[in-house]
Amino acid sequence: MTRPSADSTAANSRRANPRRAHITGWGRYAPSQVLTNADLERIVDTSDEWIRSRTGIRERRVAAAHETTASMAAVASLRALAVAGLRPDDIDLILLGTLTPDYWMPSTAALVKEAIGNTRAAAMDVAAACSGFVYAYATGQAYIASGMARNVLVIGAETLTRFLDYSDRNTCILFGDGAGAVVLGAADTPGGGLGIEMTTEPEGAYMIWLPAGGAKRPPSAETIARGEHFVRMEGKETYRFATRTLASTALAAIDRAGLKPSDIDLFIPHQANIRIIEAVAKGLSLPMDRMFVNLDKYGNTSAASVPIALAEAVNQGRVKVGDRIVIVAFGAGFTSGAVAIEWTADPERGRAGDAAVRPADVHVRLPVDWDSVDPIPDPLAAVVGRPVAPGVDVPLDDVVPGEPEHARRDRKTEIRV
Ligand code: ACO
Repeated sequence: MTRPSADSTAANSRRANPRRAHITGWGRYAPSQVLTNADLERIVDTSDEWIRSRTGIRERRVAAAHETTASMAAVASLRALAVAGLRPDDIDLILLGTLTPDYWMPSTAALVKEAIGNTRAAAMDVAAACSGFVYAYATGQAYIASGMARNVLVIGAETLTRFLDYSDRNTCILFGDGAGAVVLGAADTPGGGLGIEMTTEPEGAYMIWLPAGGAKRPPSAETIARGEHFVRMEGKETYRFATRTLASTALAAIDRAGLKPSDIDLFIPHQANIRIIEAVAKGLSLPMDRMFVNLDKYGNTSAASVPIALAEAVNQGRVKVGDRIVIVAFGAGFTSGAVAIEWTADPERGRAGDAAVRPADVHVRLPVDWDSVDPIPDPLAAVVGRPVAPGVDVPLDDVVPGEPEHARRDRKTEIRV
């Protein structure tokens, strides 16, 4: 953490010994472009009936050409800050779970730090695929418990639609884009995060993976020709892992909190497949009304799915002060993570979050003297339109005030149509 301000230093945190991490703010952002099952019928050999009955998904969101993981994360983060009633510089640590960062480096968290106007936080990405937000949450809670941070911004954000093979019906129907964020605040009052469990089972490393682009298979004409820059998945194996681990991971976190499953008012599970969530409810002997579900609207947004679902659950009045909730996710790795939480914030505060921040006012700084490319994959562009969502009048390059004038003047925007 760079240059902490006088009233929020780690030293002060240690003096007050605030061991508990409470959620004080929450926010979400979903791009406006909707991709329905009917749209997918035009791209691959699938059907609305198959997708709905096998997954529960009806539609998902697609980031517009000018949007990225960082830009969506910044909107969700500013909304979470508005709900918490904090200024950007009140945050001293930013953790961002993602498997679709804007770049290999710098971290997407660093871009978000600048975009939200924070000058003093340490910022880093957390790579645990769909469990990324829960892993980041657990890390933030640990920083607070140790006295190393007072206010932590925890984000899950993904732009998965740019990493899918639109000829593979096993994967391209599942995923969507979006972002969610919470602010964790240190306090010595009861409540907040109670029990945490995290697991990693590398036997499943190649069950869901993205083969190329890393050190083992650097990008080349060959990796592109083989389609190795897209998500690959063994659906059945992943499904089996998910149904087993979601229940056992949630149970371990609940147990660490000194609670029983029946004490939990609402589960916020990773939104991958309705049948997986039903299996978890059955495994825990709980009715489905204890499971929050919104995957019908967004599909699987990986690390963004839990924080988007959490923000919606609270804003829909499904969570009250004193409720016990469990956030639980699984993902590539195989990873899984769960946190049992006692809710302490006034849910009414959430209503102001979305209105407080307009996406058009949030900017992620672009590199100087680099031409933009249209990032929307061709098969997707054929059904969702290009270069931006309908009704959104934003150029592909959203030049940030303060950027050198020559960058603006020289930039050649290429929009393929
Ligand atoms: N449309 C139509 N038919 C399809 C489709 C489709 N989109 N996809 C598969 N099928 C066909 C198959 O080809 C197969 O046909 P066949 O019997 O003639 O061979 C049939 O439907 C059944 O296929 P299954 O793979 O057995 O379908 P299943 O019921 O297992 O559902 C699914 C597949 C939805 C992928 C499921 O296995 C699943 O949800 N797995 C978990 C995936 C997941 O959650 N991934 C996220 C991981 S988290 C992360 O880190 C990113």
